[in-house]
Amino acid sequence: MENSVNEPRVPAAAPAKVFNTQADFLREFPLTGPDTLGGKMLRRYWHPVCLSKDLQDIPYPVRMLSEDLVAFRGLDGKVGLIGDRCAHRCASLQYGQIRAEGLECSYHGWTYDRKGACVRMPLEPLNTPLLAKVKQKWYPVEEWAGIVWTYMGPGGDSPPPLPKIDILARTDGELVVERGDFRNYNYQNFLENFADMGHVYVLHMLAPGETPEDVAPHCDTSVDIEWRHITHKSFDTSFGMKSVLVHNTSDPDKKFVNTWSIAPPAHWRFGGISAGLPPDFTDDRRESGGMLRIIDDGHFEMFRHTLVRPGNFRSTFFPRDSDKSRGLAEGTAGPREKKDYDYRKYPAWEGRPPLEDLVIQESQGVIPPREHELLATSDTGVVMLRRLWRRSMEAVAQGREPFQIKVDENGIFKVDTFKGFAKASEMKLGPENMPSSEDGRGLIRDTNGKAVFA
Ligand code: FES
Ligand SMILES: [Fe+2]
Repeated sequence: MENSVNEPRVPAAAPAKVFNTQADFLREFPLTGPDTLGGKMLRRYWHPVCLSKDLQDIPYPVRMLSEDLVAFRGLDGKVGLIGDRCAHRCASLQYGQIRAEGLECSYHGWTYDRKGACVRMPLEPLNTPLLAKVKQKWYPVEEWAGIVWTYMGPGGDSPPPLPKIDILARTDGELVVERGDFRNYNYQNFLENFADMGHVYVLHMLAPGETPEDVAPHCDTSVDIEWRHITHKSFDTSFGMKSVLVHNTSDPDKKFVNTWSIAPPAHWRFGGISAGLPPDFTDDRRESGGMLRIIDDGHFEMFRHTLVRPGNFRSTFFPRDSDKSRGLAEGTAGPREKKDYDYRKYPAWEGRPPLEDLVIQESQGVIPPREHELLATSDTGVVMLRRLWRRSMEAVAQGREPFQIKVDENGIFKVDTFKGFAKASEMKLGPENMPSSEDGRGLIRDTNGKAVFA
């Protein structure tokens, strides 16, 4: 394939109408290849390739957005990302050799620099004209926060700046960035799951529960968990979109708020989770999320990041005992017990939220047959996510930029992760960020261990 790096960003003929019907859009939107509208749109964003520490003295094979690539760290320490298949006779460059000039194919020694130029052909005459003809695919890369990122869109000689995710720039806690796992289905099954907060109450049965007796005197955190009493809204935001749940509590001026955020191309975040139980009220504040490396239409890899800080209590809910929520008698494993008549691919799958998400997302199909869907009121977040994608895909098809993430003067974007109790009078139910647990207000402990708003 011709390297898109050299293509102009604005196509010569921009269509007036991109999708005739929603069905046309739904067919295109999960696609990732370079010739699809979904894939063209995704290529206008920076994507994580691998961790910096993955690139040492050997090449690293990596499929990104349906293209087979190979990343390598040159002898000068700089990273390159080029097409995997050697231009000579198709050997894979993942078995290549790292040399001063670039990456050398192990078969006949053709050597490529970071911009895909062939700089050496040891079995050809000196100064062969063939050298100038070879243009290996390449993409610009940037290393930031221990992660290697790439921009696979057109104009890669001068790519747009990398929008930096706030949590990866934080220094006020212990940040862990790790590989999650590989999944064998489309990345939108995952993102749509994250735009859908209702499933937590049914699939995971993780609704807030009663405050434990020994905590209640310090802080009654019981909240109303009846779904039909919860305010459920989704908002377009400066970083992408978010969904928010607002629960009532016994105190009319105290609400429990939970926020989930998504930033394109595939970054998700959820709020600080705290614990702080008697007798010592030791608590950690934890902010979690991650991002996907979109491999192709049917595969992705997860990178997770978590920031943990010792901190004052920013109160959370206490999850319901999930055995009780599942209607199980004490001491029984029920659906979580492996049964000898369970022939499902994932037997005994219930009870662990990450496994529950995997099972359900995979069960929807590699690409779900969305023409058979029946969207309902609980899907407002899913609808908002699709609209965000649709607007961006239409913009790219018409020669404009897709949704642009708003960054501050340091190139960093802040994502709303508010989770906790808020005074009703101070709650902002809208696109702007609620104060995060980084600097935010909420229930904290005074010096006597009593929970107070601050
Ligand atoms: S196949 Fe790579 S140099 Fe021959
Ligand atoms: Fe989930």
